[in-house]
Amino acid sequence: MLKPQWCLDRAKRMRHLIVPSVDTQHWFEIVKSNGWAQEGYGILTTDDGLKAIPLNGSAPADNHSVWQNTAHRIILRSKEIAKHWTDLIDQKLLLEIKEFLPRSHELIGDILVVKLEDEIFAHREIIADAMLEKLPNVRLVCADKGVTGKFRVRDLLPIKSRQGDSATLTKVKEHGQVILIDPTKSYFSARLSTERQGSYTAAKQLFNRLGRAITVCDPYAGVGPAMAGLLTKTGLVDKALIGDLNPSAVELLQQNIANFLSKNTQPAEVEILCQDGRKWRERAEFNHKVDLLLVNLPHQMLTHISDLLPLMRRHSPSLIRGWAIVEKTEMQNINDQLTKLFADNGAINHNLTCSEVKGFSSSKSFVRVESWQEFQ
Ligand SMILES: C[S@@+](CC[C@H](N)C(=O)[O-])C[C@H]1O[C@@H](n2cnc3c(N)ncnc32)[C@H](O)[C@@H]1O
Repeated sequence: MLKPQWCLDRAKRMRHLIVPSVDTQHWFEIVKSNGWAQEGYGILTTDDGLKAIPLNGSAPADNHSVWQNTAHRIILRSKEIAKHWTDLIDQKLLLEIKEFLPRSHELIGDILVVKLEDEIFAHREIIADAMLEKLPNVRLVCADKGVTGKFRVRDLLPIKSRQGDSATLTKVKEHGQVILIDPTKSYFSARLSTERQGSYTAAKQLFNRLGRAITVCDPYAGVGPAMAGLLTKTGLVDKALIGDLNPSAVELLQQNIANFLSKNTQPAEVEILCQDGRKWRERAEFNHKVDLLLVNLPHQMLTHISDLLPLMRRHSPSLIRGWAIVEKTEMQNINDQLTKLFADNGAINHNLTCSEVKGFSSSKSFVRVESWQEFQ
């Protein structure tokens, strides 16, 4: 039995040169440079771990001295359909660059974001072409150059696009709602969709507990993905205070919020501001109004939180969900510090949990802080 890299369909008898795996590149170069390779068919791995290089009709006979007694075998091959985008790359090049190929990629809407090692950067267009051919949902392939600036937006280098459309504006669907995003203009992580779903579930708990529509505040909203579920659910939210410091994020935020509200027969009253989250408290009309506060500013959550507490409603159960990047050894300390801070701000019936969502580095964790309380 062969381990095919390809799906087989109608079979055809084909002669193959059988070589040890370590000699594949050497023999493939000889076969290719002499025009003896059977185009459109990949190299197979045989059951005994050898490699089978497909030969065409112009290759010399099995007993020709050029083969140096290397074995030949007839193997049934069929019209091949590439299973993976790497199957579409020229076999010789693939052998050269295989160890540097991107092992994972991230799909943001119809944009495929790929980390490319320096060793294969020169071949980026060939790689992007293969990806576009194999992945029909992808419109644009971009190289990921990391996160940049104070708003932590993605530095993306467009490599190849379908029909020449290299726009980085795209749409993602999350929890049934379409969200406009541009990863080069505003932070967005699809990986946090479970956290957003958790906020939606917690909001419904708070709604049930209070027996009325709730007021939410998301001062670090980005393009507003956390609002998708909350603002489209009729009757759940009566007011929303939403903002971001990044003007480019706020442009998309405004469009997304208008779209969410249009889905709701009792749309919430919404205030959208482009400002530092700590400034919401400076307007008296926003103080003591919020039932649910989201604090998604992981690198600074712990320094911003005290400026946000004045927004919380008094004499009524309320909920704060925040996310922070913390030293693993500091988790208990942070729990104690926040418990004290909340108590100093008049919290009673306080229940605070600090749970790891994922590792961030060897010493740090990305954690969710969830705090139920009643401020006096
Ligand atoms: C981690 S992102 C969260 C975005 C969004 N909530 C989400 O889930 O995709 C943090 C956001 O806070 C914004 N930001 C950074 N500093 C800020 C500040 N001082 N005040 C308000 N927004 C800020 C950034 O522009 C970014 O959009």
